[in-house]
Amino acid sequence: MILEIKKYGDSVLETPCAKVTDFGSARLRTLVIDMFETMWANKGVGLAAPQVGELLQLTVIDTSSGEEPDERLVLINPEILSLEGQQLSEEGCLSIPGFREDVRRAMVAKVRAFNVEGKEFEVTGEELLARAFQHEIDHLNGILFLKHLSPLKRDLIRRKISKLVKAGEW
Ligand code: NI
Repeated sequence: MILEIKKYGDSVLETPCAKVTDFGSARLRTLVIDMFETMWANKGVGLAAPQVGELLQLTVIDTSSGEEPDERLVLINPEILSLEGQQLSEEGCLSIPGFREDVRRAMVAKVRAFNVEGKEFEVTGEELLARAFQHEIDHLNGILFLKHLSPLKRDLIRRKISKLVKAGEW
């Protein structure tokens, strides 16, 4: 089922998420399937649970946008173990549609997380995958990519969004 994506301005996007505890449950499995469907339908490469209104430390990532089953990743209660290097590239967010900005991120990110069954694993990402790890784990802490922009750029985007809200277009 394709879920509604919460947009910037919804407080659920700026609230830290609780740890998942019901590993292996039907509810968790269904949520993961629905999140993948929702992400692919919106042509995203990552989606965090708060973006669909669930304050849980859960994110799905697929940098192939549905093309490569091997690239599907579910990160539950994830933790960044190490960050190395730097990259500067354009970043967007399904909760802030229409706005893309250069964001500085680490080039390599190593993460520890749990899968749907509650099995712990570690995964290392580079470039886009490392960017997705950092962006999505930020979401689980209530942080949006706007936080990584200069105050000037951030305020400009906020003002544009306020206008869209007033116009009923957000
Ligand atoms: Ni996002």
